Amino acid sequence: MSNKPVTVVAVDGPAASGKSTVARQTAQALGWVYVDSGALYRGMTWKVLREGVDPTKPAEVIALLPRLTWEFFDEQHAIRFTIDGEDPGQQIRSELVREAVSDIAAIPEVRTFIVGELRKMTDFGSLVMEGRDIGSVVFPDTPFKFYLDADPVERARRRAAELAQAEGRGDVDQVLHSLTRRDQKDSGRKTAPLQIPLGARVIDSTKLGIAEVVALMLADLRQAKVVT
Ligand code: DC
Repeated sequence: MSNKPVTVVAVDGPAASGKSTVARQTAQALGWVYVDSGALYRGMTWKVLREGVDPTKPAEVIALLPRLTWEFFDEQHAIRFTIDGEDPGQQIRSELVREAVSDIAAIPEVRTFIVGELRKMTDFGSLVMEGRDIGSVVFPDTPFKFYLDADPVERARRRAAELAQAEGRGDVDQVLHSLTRRDQKDSGRKTAPLQIPLGARVIDSTKLGIAEVVALMLADLRQAKVVT
């Protein structure tokens, strides 16, 4: 790996705040690597369920950790991974994983392991990484931190539309209920709760389109002379 200095842009925010699309497009515009940190927590959850381990029993989940082999690949500037040689693909987006992931993400030992893997991703080059604790815990020293938020009803509406497209059904009220519960768990947990990182620029995307948010972020990076 090269010793070229790398830059990390941290994009944090609650579920369905638009951060995935915004982070992916920002990475594309910069020619940098996009990292969806939530995919690792989802991948771990997928593996836990696959191994028949109860996600609400931390000791059993922790016992599984050292037995797993993770590998990461840069695929067209987005990170793909395998666990024990298997790529979970879209299975990490299943309802079973969605409902269990907050329990898995609340286990400190799981977080320590995943944070370590996320930090190593600078080996792939400059990154745009999205998640819940990127600017606060994973890369607290990066000067480029964004916190994307949106009104919960608007977030539920967006996520329901995505689900309707992917799964053929998406009920806004049901999604709002599930999102609110997940936000509460993610914000209320003891280790690395969802929070606005110190020094982050908060962007409320309730009334902004994806392109407008990406433009705001790129303008900040240009002003800081990180990109031209
Ligand atoms: O962004 P997402 O919905 O794919 O995230 C899945 C879960 O993982 C979410 O409930 C919170 C957790 N997560 C986390 O705790 N820390 C991160 N950096 C990213 C995700």
